[in-house]
Amino acid sequence: MTHHQQFTIRIWDLPTRIFHWTLAAAVTGLIISANIGGNAMVWHFRLGYLVFALLLFRFFWGFVGGHWSRWSQLPLRPQNVVAYLRGHSSTSHRAGHNPLGSWSVVTLLVFLLLQVSTGLFSDDEIANMGPFASSVSGFWVSWSTFWHKQVGKLILIALVVLHMLAIAWYSWRKRQALISAMWHGDKVSSESLTPSADGRGKRWMALFCWLVSCLIVLVVLSWGS
Ligand code: HEM
Repeated sequence: MTHHQQFTIRIWDLPTRIFHWTLAAAVTGLIISANIGGNAMVWHFRLGYLVFALLLFRFFWGFVGGHWSRWSQLPLRPQNVVAYLRGHSSTSHRAGHNPLGSWSVVTLLVFLLLQVSTGLFSDDEIANMGPFASSVSGFWVSWSTFWHKQVGKLILIALVVLHMLAIAWYSWRKRQALISAMWHGDKVSSESLTPSADGRGKRWMALFCWLVSCLIVLVVLSWGS
């Protein structure tokens, strides 16, 4: 019998993990506050700005973050997806986000960005108005409000449900410990792969990216009313 060596590899660096669980908590809070309405809308706005900053952070982190969090590491090519579905993908295409997972990440982030952007221009014509709703024409305000409340919201909820079902499928049927990897960062592999750097230097870099992201959000908001 051959002996299979196992390697424990850091896949998700701490900043990526904090990003993920903060995002999940913020999106949950956004859905709840939107449904309560009224005074809870103050929190809907605050959490929306938080998601705005998180998205900016994740964008930067895709360039300077740990190996497996980088944009260049996402196997997004159609050939990668086809190979994955046929069970022929390389280990490195399954270590971080696999090809389907990569598309799911990009789709989630794009629709989150659309949701935040349209929120800034939305107006419910009762009590709540996004900070830029008074800076554009009524056409854009109604389009943004329509997307934010009728379209984007439903697409996002569907994507989140799909996301959780996919993760559950991988845990139960394929025995892949994806949730614990997003919690403590490590995955076990039969091949020795490049780990994501996750030391002190990376964390200072993350703090810097986060401060820049918050600053951008504050500057953008200062242009609104
Ligand atoms: C209980 C709820 C959730 C669980 C258990 C969960 C679990 C996970 C796991 C395990 C991954 C890594 C997947 C992989 O290995 O490729 C992941 C990635 C991701 N999830 Fe979730 N997730 C949850 C909620 C959410 C929510 C609410 C959102 C946002 C709408 C979200 C957005 C993302 C994104 C953007 C990534 C990619 C992470 C990155 O590369 O930065 N997740 N999630």
